[in-house]
Amino acid sequence: MRNMGADARISAIYLLFLAIPSILAQDCSYFVAVPREDKPEQDNPDFSGTPWSTRPLLPPPDRDDICIGSMSQTGNTVIHNIYMDESIEGDVIIARLNYEGTGTPTIGTFLGQGPRDLLGPVIRRVPELDNAWHLIITEKQDYETPIMRSYIFPISVSGEATSARVQLTIVNIDDNPPFIQALDACFVNELTEAPLLTDCVYDVTDADGYISTGFMTYSLSSDRGDELLFDVDSRPADNDEYRLRMTIMLLQPLNYETNMIHIFSVTAFDSLPNNHTASISVRVQNVESRPPRWQEIWAVQQFDEKTNQSFSVRAIDGDTGLDRPIAYRLEKNETYTFFDIETIEGGKDGAIFTVKGIDRDTLEQEVFQVSIIAYKAHNEAFFTETNVVIIVNDVNDQRPKPLYKEYRTKIREETPLTISFDNDFGFHDRDLGDNARYEVKLKSVSPAGVADAFYIAPGVGYQRQTFTMGTVVHSMLDYEVPEFQSIIVNVS
Ligand SMILES: *[C@@H]1O[C@H](CO)[C@@H](O)[C@H](O)[C@H]1NC(C)=O
Ligand SMILES: *[C@@H]1O[C@H](CO)[C@@H](O)[C@H](O)[C@H]1NC(C)=O
Ligand SMILES: *[C@@H]1O[C@H](CO)[C@@H](O)[C@H](O)[C@H]1NC(C)=O
Repeated sequence: MRNMGADARISAIYLLFLAIPSILAQDCSYFVAVPREDKPEQDNPDFSGTPWSTRPLLPPPDRDDICIGSMSQTGNTVIHNIYMDESIEGDVIIARLNYEGTGTPTIGTFLGQGPRDLLGPVIRRVPELDNAWHLIITEKQDYETPIMRSYIFPISVSGEATSARVQLTIVNIDDNPPFIQALDACFVNELTEAPLLTDCVYDVTDADGYISTGFMTYSLSSDRGDELLFDVDSRPADNDEYRLRMTIMLLQPLNYETNMIHIFSVTAFDSLPNNHTASISVRVQNVESRPPRWQEIWAVQQFDEKTNQSFSVRAIDGDTGLDRPIAYRLEKNETYTFFDIETIEGGKDGAIFTVKGIDRDTLEQEVFQVSIIAYKAHNEAFFTETNVVIIVNDVNDQRPKPLYKEYRTKIREETPLTISFDNDFGFHDRDLGDNARYEVKLKSVSPAGVADAFYIAPGVGYQRQTFTMGTVVHSMLDYEVPEFQSIIVNVS
């Protein structure tokens, strides 16, 4: 209630403008704006009493897809600018004739670009609208057909010198869907730092031009979480309002091992919005970053000493997408000349680890540790190392050997004693475990049976061991018996 006075004042001023026809200019700028703006509030002007010669055409019943614009006059011609959307189905009443006579109004020769038959204008009485004469467009318009964009034609009625000239402009609406051209898969290196604009660039076209391309939005959808990895960036193509360059943006680094191909949907929405969905596939390219990976390896091998052996090992490139040749080498004590490794040609089939007869007994060692290293043949910086243990079994191929060939000593006759020799008196069996156990016995050489006069202790030996010899039957050792002056016994 409080505002009523103000409203009345505004209406009064407005009516004042309406009273001066040449100034009257219904503003259609909202109608042609891209995107279209809201229709401004406008009062319905009252044209009663305005003659044909001042204003031949009147607004038809209000509708959102036409706009009656400015009017001007040159000589006997009153020009009406009318705007109409393309793609309207059915007849469209675009003006009411300010004429109540009985003569049939006529449409004259078309002056502008658009031809009459593509527009199909007719003037007829409409019973529901006071049976008044109306200008009706009967053909559906298509802005994307260039000669359908504007029409200029005169209308005259009998008995009036003034004629109306209709300048009809067809307004583009966003009636065509966009189209994403995504034919090829694109490639992105894994582990690339993000965010980043990729080289995955696609054309997005829309026949409606700027009205669509100027307002395009996108959404990315995936049932595998790809929306967290990718986004879409869109820019106008140079000097082409019908085309956009859509670039796939990387939000996070990709990983070839986790997922070597990403397939997701991108939907483009124009200003209506119409939409188009395309499937985008991004192939992840393996970047050299992973060491070789064992496919065939072992921790321990055990076999007999002095035998030749070979064992295979095999690794593959950890960068499976690159699958480079793998070479092998050993890291070992340089005295371990019996170990070797040979890469099988081509680098794809592994290597043979060989052992050439380890002489455990000479080395007196049965456990050996070596490292087997698999590396990328072209770049040793990518390698994998594993420690293996080789155990050799002793073979009982060693005889116990006396520490010295001969021992000499002099003893007193018929005296109980423990004999001491000039050197360590003993044997050495270089075998191991049970294989290194041996018995010792005395055997007479001369005189016969003399061995019975001595003992040797202990009776068994193990590996390297010394023994004690002494006399047991010292009465036998009588110097006066000539044979006993030089005694030889064998110890075995
Ligand atoms: C795309 O448009 C069609 C109709 O044209 C509609 O059914 C569909 O829901 C739209 N898609 C999206 C994702 O909005
Ligand atoms: C082991 O191989 C070497 C050389 O390759 C050979 O001379 C030797 O006889 C082989 N030994 C056995 C026990 O086969
Ligand atoms: C290599 O082996 C020899 C004999 O077994 C040993 O004396 C030497 O300490 C070893 N060298 C290394 C670096 O382990």
